Amino acid sequence: MRLLVTGGLGFIGSNFILSMLKTYQDLSIINLDLITYAGNLENLVDVTHDKNRYTFVKGDITDKSLVSEIVSTKPDAVVNFAAESHVDRSILDASAFLKTNIIGVQTLLDCCREHGVGRFVQISTDEVYGSLGPEDPPFVETNHLKPNSPYSASKASADLLVRAYHKTYNMDVVITRCSNNYGLLQFPEKLIPLMITNAIQNQELPVYGDGLNVRDWIYVLDHCKAIDKVMRDGRSGRIYNIGGSCEYPNIEIVKLILTKLKKPFSLIKYVQDRPGHDRRYSMDATRIRDELGWVPSTGFEEGIDATIKWYIENESWWRKIKSGEYLDYYEKWYGNL
Ligand code: NAD
Ligand code: TYD
Repeated sequence: MRLLVTGGLGFIGSNFILSMLKTYQDLSIINLDLITYAGNLENLVDVTHDKNRYTFVKGDITDKSLVSEIVSTKPDAVVNFAAESHVDRSILDASAFLKTNIIGVQTLLDCCREHGVGRFVQISTDEVYGSLGPEDPPFVETNHLKPNSPYSASKASADLLVRAYHKTYNMDVVITRCSNNYGLLQFPEKLIPLMITNAIQNQELPVYGDGLNVRDWIYVLDHCKAIDKVMRDGRSGRIYNIGGSCEYPNIEIVKLILTKLKKPFSLIKYVQDRPGHDRRYSMDATRIRDELGWVPSTGFEEGIDATIKWYIENESWWRKIKSGEYLDYYEKWYGNL
């Protein structure tokens, strides 16, 4: 099997490439990534020597001639992870989100159509459904899309485009919508790696609003296994929710991390809330369980221990990131609040 993976130097894409190359011998992957602030070549050092099975191309998914050239090699599937992925950044400036997350998807779809590529797998998010109240049932695939941030609006737009290409051109597409991932190699701007690394550095842990917003957490490798199942066996034109059935309010996660690292709760700093902050996400993943036999296999306690251990053992990875461009953004964001 030959895959084109886009955005494979980011958090989930690099975990996907590493786990796929480890699991399947008869697999080769082209990874197309722009290396934005979130892309990191170091994430894939373990496979870069594997020239027969892994090829890296630096480039933009909105670059039609480049994408067309790569797609003309007719991979068996295109798995699109490439995106601007951080809600807070989208609140500061939505431009890159619309370009990559919408125009980029259109470009990929057009090139796949032009060259008659098999399956297109769009990696989407639970955030397209909007926000739940405390007693609401979890999101199902038939829910209306009600995105509340520029990030989620751009992802919802992409989902609609993918659907339209299936209906109009009969393209073979599948969409996965997953809940919040955590695990190794996650950029330390997202909640869990930010809190772990700040705690290690004895810096304040900024908790937005009352800290009672709820997310449904999934270990990244469980997400990767689900994507593999959907890519191989999902029904064309179908959407699959993926979730960990693991809801926690943010403040509980933050306190758990501090407890595990033996750091004081006095490091917690409640800060002004994120504008338009979704209150709760929760996923009903019955469809993927019943149709494809996927269930998550990593419990939260096990996953968070592995994640904390990885950040302790890979301090040079995240220290480099935190001392660079990331800091400018961090200051801009907190200056903005
Ligand atoms: P990430 O920000 O860690 O990585 C994104 C990657 O895309 C980076 O390597 C970046 O260099 C690359 N990229 C950005 N713009 C590009 C462009 N124009 N052309 C080529 N490459 C480009 O993101 P992530 O957390 O790994 O998320 C991957 C995908 O999964 C995204 O589509 C996101 O919406 C979705 N998702 C993420 C989560 C989560 O919890 N992180 C949950 C559900 C869905
Ligand atoms: P995040 O990791 O940005 O993911 P998303 O907003 O896409 O779900 O945030 C997860 C939750 O943590 C969300 O409710 C916002 C909150 N949060 C904080 O309280 N403090 C922070 O510094 C960050 C980054 C997030």
